[in-house]
Amino acid sequence: MCGIVGMVFKNPFSARDALTSLKRLEYRGYDSFGIADSNGRIQKFVGEIDETKAGDRLVNTTITHTRWATHGNVTEANAHPHTDCTGSIAIVHNGIISNFSEIREEMKAEGHRFASETDSELIAHFFEGKNIADSIPPFFAKFKGEYAVLLIKKGEDAIYAFKRGSPLVLGIAQDGYVLASDIYAFSDRTGNAVFFNEDEFAVVGKNGYEFYKVNGKLEPSEKQVTAFKWMAEETKKDYEHYMMKEIKEIPEASRRLLDSLEAEQRESVESIVSLVRNAKRIVFVASGSSYHASLLGIQFLRRAGVEAHAIVASEFKNFTLIDENTLVVAVSQSGETMDVIEALHGIKARGVKIASLVNVPYSTVQRMSHSHINICAGQEVAVAATKTFVNQVLAMAYIASLLGYAMDMRSVTGVFNSVFAQEARIKDVAKTLATARDIYVLGRGFSYPVAREIALKLKEITYIHAEGMMAGELKHGTLSLIEQGTPVICLAPKGDNDIMSTAHEVAGRGANVIMFSDEARGGIKIDSTGKVSFSVMAAMAGQLLTYYIAREKGLPIDKPRNLAKSVTVK
Ligand code: M6R
Repeated sequence: MCGIVGMVFKNPFSARDALTSLKRLEYRGYDSFGIADSNGRIQKFVGEIDETKAGDRLVNTTITHTRWATHGNVTEANAHPHTDCTGSIAIVHNGIISNFSEIREEMKAEGHRFASETDSELIAHFFEGKNIADSIPPFFAKFKGEYAVLLIKKGEDAIYAFKRGSPLVLGIAQDGYVLASDIYAFSDRTGNAVFFNEDEFAVVGKNGYEFYKVNGKLEPSEKQVTAFKWMAEETKKDYEHYMMKEIKEIPEASRRLLDSLEAEQRESVESIVSLVRNAKRIVFVASGSSYHASLLGIQFLRRAGVEAHAIVASEFKNFTLIDENTLVVAVSQSGETMDVIEALHGIKARGVKIASLVNVPYSTVQRMSHSHINICAGQEVAVAATKTFVNQVLAMAYIASLLGYAMDMRSVTGVFNSVFAQEARIKDVAKTLATARDIYVLGRGFSYPVAREIALKLKEITYIHAEGMMAGELKHGTLSLIEQGTPVICLAPKGDNDIMSTAHEVAGRGANVIMFSDEARGGIKIDSTGKVSFSVMAAMAGQLLTYYIAREKGLPIDKPRNLAKSVTVK
């Protein structure tokens, strides 16, 4: 994962500004951070980014890094930037060098001394004493895996940037340049960007930049400047945590999405609908919450008479046989999830059509797609997907409605606010669950993906083991885990008698049953207008429950341990 930012400006800027830009990428990882400048100064720190740590010294060129640890523990030594043996080259890296062990052994035999346990440090040693541009083709030939790298040399106001697999983009500001993992790092400074393609190298100085395709040698490459618009950075406002702010934004974000699908995104919607009509089957590819949204997408499309499947991105190639009659739909909030990108690379090479639902515009997934829809949730800062999960589900329901699934989208979204009327009740339930060891969440049909989504939320934010299951599967084994007092959340939309039977079965074995139901059955009341709104509102109630349990336990709600918002490694 990790976020990288490089800045080279005509006029000196404060090192603190460099860390402020880096802070905008903190959602990519928050284990440690560091900064190097062209005067040869390097500072590294463990923990979340604190802009004040760099001081107010003036610099002309910097590279910075915020880390999500892969190789090596969370220590100052393993924090980036890393240098070669002489200290004249400094690099920051996002990605993983897969043949790291063999290269390290080779370099060790050559006499290189390593200061860290990371794969990234090898990159600095590779360029030691060499001309950087001349050494780029041999670097690409030798280093396997994914990398976006920024490299500076002591005494030179230029950044050498190259990438394979991991994202990298150049922002063109008025008086200089910013290189970063994504546009968000510099969207406060400029709306103009140049996106790197695979296997590209650029030299960026304070007066200009040059791009090259790396193809055994360097071939000059003409690049287009893309003008982009991205919503201004959002603050927490009066909320204690982004997660709560983002849950509370759901009604507004869902309206914004529907407005946009009916107006400015109409052409994209029509294009995706026609791709679906011309395909024999749809295969969603996604991870985490986006996968759970896709499980709902399958059911919506089925009701419109369309065959659909969803495959977890990291296992995509093991579970599918894709041909030219398949439409692959990538679903990703960030559009930068490496598992999804990897899966798309595999199928793009075979000429299969790709559509996508993304939240972050101009992301890699969006740029790899033939057609895309933006889910218009606005920036989501908390690691937990909340409003973006809801908007993914709604975008899928909307497409299915155009294909024949009879449903009134406005009546679905119109009732979302009523979930907040249950907040006090949810808070009370949360208090009773804070000491739970395990929680089971059961659903059927539309509620099954929601059960899995609630369980995922509970695990990542409250650190309680949770399982989201098909209620009908419980009796095939898991029922033996139900003991006196085991919390079991049952998602029971009106008329679902089968889930009521399951609720009785677990209650009879001593479970503490918590109903999420649109009938007066105790528990948490979901005032829905039908099965689609029930599933979204149950997910919202689950998000609130998760939030209040984590708050009760005093956990770092927006940045849970070991995780990052954007998972840019395999
Ligand atoms: O950006 P993406 O939607 O591709 O991210 C996929 C998952 O990493 C993400 O949904 C993750 O599961 C969430 N943090 C869950 O709340």
